[in-house]
Amino acid sequence: MFIRPVTARDHAKIPQLVEAAFARHDEGLLVEELRRHGDIEVEYVATDRNELVGHIAFSRLISPPLCLALAPLSVHPDRQKTGIGSTLIRIASEAVEEAGWAAAFVLGNPAYYGRFGYDVEMAQGFDTPYPSEFTAARVFDETAFRSLPRELVYPAAF
Ligand SMILES: CC(C)(COP(=O)(O)OP(=O)(O)OC[C@H]1O[C@@H](n2cnc3c(N)ncnc32)[C@H](O)[C@@H]1OP(=O)(O)O)[C@@H](O)C(=O)NCCC(=O)NCCS
Repeated sequence: MFIRPVTARDHAKIPQLVEAAFARHDEGLLVEELRRHGDIEVEYVATDRNELVGHIAFSRLISPPLCLALAPLSVHPDRQKTGIGSTLIRIASEAVEEAGWAAAFVLGNPAYYGRFGYDVEMAQGFDTPYPSEFTAARVFDETAFRSLPRELVYPAAF
């Protein structure tokens, strides 16, 4: 298994992988729409013998500035629970930090994302259109994070 940033040659294959992971067409469409609008900032794939087996995308939030949304995270159904999702989150989150983003928000199971430093407590106090008990944040720049406007506005594709 190999983790690397996405290239243009992956673009056409990614929606299919995402749909297979979620067993839902709309998650594949989400990636296509985010890409079409230029919202994706950090994106990695996991490959095995040239096949895509995993994918992660971080997209720029409309608000607060300097913040990303992690979504979606997808592992091929035949390869789930073998550590691919965890490795994708770790490597892509490092890239987010290195690129200088203040924080990343994720909507998902707090027990899973909590393993990677995404903390529900950190996202408390932000107005969000989604359930706050499933919204977690990982902070990369404490100083910038403290002065951010307390409202999450997601790209239209969401
Ligand atoms: C969720 C997903 C990305 C996890 O990736 P993965 O490669 O299967 O998971 P990993 O092997 O890295 O981690 C496995 C561990 O996470 C746990 N886990 C996996 N999915 C989980 C979930 N949705 N909620 C809570 N725990 C979960 C497993 O029970 C396992 O725990 P263990 O280490 O104690 O045995 C993957 O299963 C997937 O694509 N699922 C369908 C799409 C989806 O739900 N995406 C996330 C939306 S927020």
